[in-house]
Amino acid sequence: MRIEDVEGELDRILLTEEEILTKLDELARQVEEDYKGKRVPLLVGVLKGAVVVLSDFAKALNFHAEMDFMAVSSYGHGTKSSGVVRILKDLDADIHDRDVLIVEDIIDTGLTLSWLIENLESRGAKSVKVLALLRKPDAMKVHVPVQYLGFDIPNEFVVGFGLDYAEKYRNLRAVAVLAKHVYS
Ligand code: IMP
Repeated sequence: MRIEDVEGELDRILLTEEEILTKLDELARQVEEDYKGKRVPLLVGVLKGAVVVLSDFAKALNFHAEMDFMAVSSYGHGTKSSGVVRILKDLDADIHDRDVLIVEDIIDTGLTLSWLIENLESRGAKSVKVLALLRKPDAMKVHVPVQYLGFDIPNEFVVGFGLDYAEKYRNLRAVAVLAKHVYS
């Protein structure tokens, strides 16, 4: 979806598609370098938000990327995530002794991601690393290691590139701050 299709619903554009794709290319070069000579890492996306980033990132990689997906729901009060997580859809792959690269759209509190890293490590993964397109300031509170980061963004509600508001805007070709009138 183009920006002009929903222009009146956006406060401002934070990142254009071009900026995001350029950054994903840079991150892909780093990942290729870091895993050189090893079996390719399994890319793990957390549904649904990570799908768009994972797809563009996988296309930027110059090796055969294996992908797998999980769906989780975190119990929380209202919009706050609590860190207590339930698996709705598990991985198909056995990750024992494999290098795993979690691909995320955004890290906010980081609670879900901390749980996920521990969960995948407990299955005997050789390594679990994280690539995130976006990171908000609260992520600094719980220290979540992010080996490959796209952009640090301010603490505002953003949509696009996989991120939704009520299941809308996921396919927007940009990351944008949603206009207040849309959700208030
Ligand atoms: P947390 O890091 O456990 O707090 O949760 C991160 C998840 O919250 C992301 O995967 C998104 O689904 C959602 N989220 C956090 N911030 C935003 C936002 O600005 N827009 C849309 N979804 C968000």
